[in-house]
Amino acid sequence: MTKDLNGLYYRLLCPRVVAIIVSLRPDGKPNAMVAAWHTPISVNPPIVAIAIAPSRFTHKLIQNSGEFTINIPDKTLTEQIEVAGYNSGEHMDKSALFKYAPSKILKTPIIEDAIGVIECKLNRMLEMGDHSVVFGNIVSVSAKGFGEVWRTSTPLLHLGTNFYTELKK
Ligand SMILES: Cc1cc2nc3c(=O)[nH]c(=O)nc-3n(C[C@H](O)[C@H](O)[C@H](O)COP(=O)(O)O)c2cc1C
Repeated sequence: MTKDLNGLYYRLLCPRVVAIIVSLRPDGKPNAMVAAWHTPISVNPPIVAIAIAPSRFTHKLIQNSGEFTINIPDKTLTEQIEVAGYNSGEHMDKSALFKYAPSKILKTPIIEDAIGVIECKLNRMLEMGDHSVVFGNIVSVSAKGFGEVWRTSTPLLHLGTNFYTELKK
């Protein structure tokens, strides 16, 4: 039995749907980070939670703007995901990485090529270990190729580090 508590436990909870979290910079441009540690919290009212480390630029941006969008990619966005997930917006302008479209409700845009989009207003942030749990009140949801389950669209799934997979039909 392994004793690597820190490095192993979350790998056992994979695969996880890759999410791209978009938030607004003070100059009005979008910043995108990748997050795989997210979970539904409440159905009514609809609330989602994402574990975002306080060191992420996104953490500051969400604190400032009070909103964010969760964008579900398929594998066609893998290259951009690697850039968004390994480079901080604090040191790199990531605003041209994806094509953006207006949100239904928020000022923060959505990623045009995402197969699913969840728009959130910040509920609260709770510091927890080396991450914060960011709770979002969901104000709008849309998806392409989805009817009760994913049908024609296929979300990218994270297996840990740089391993990804997809749903099989
Ligand atoms: C597949 C993948 C999943 C990730 N999941 C998370 C996560 O759930 N929470 C987190 O804080 N960082 C996560 N990261 C790391 C951030 O995306 C990364 O630190 C990013 O550069 C932060 O960007 P920002 O500083 O512009 O916000 C993940 C990275 C990858 C590649």
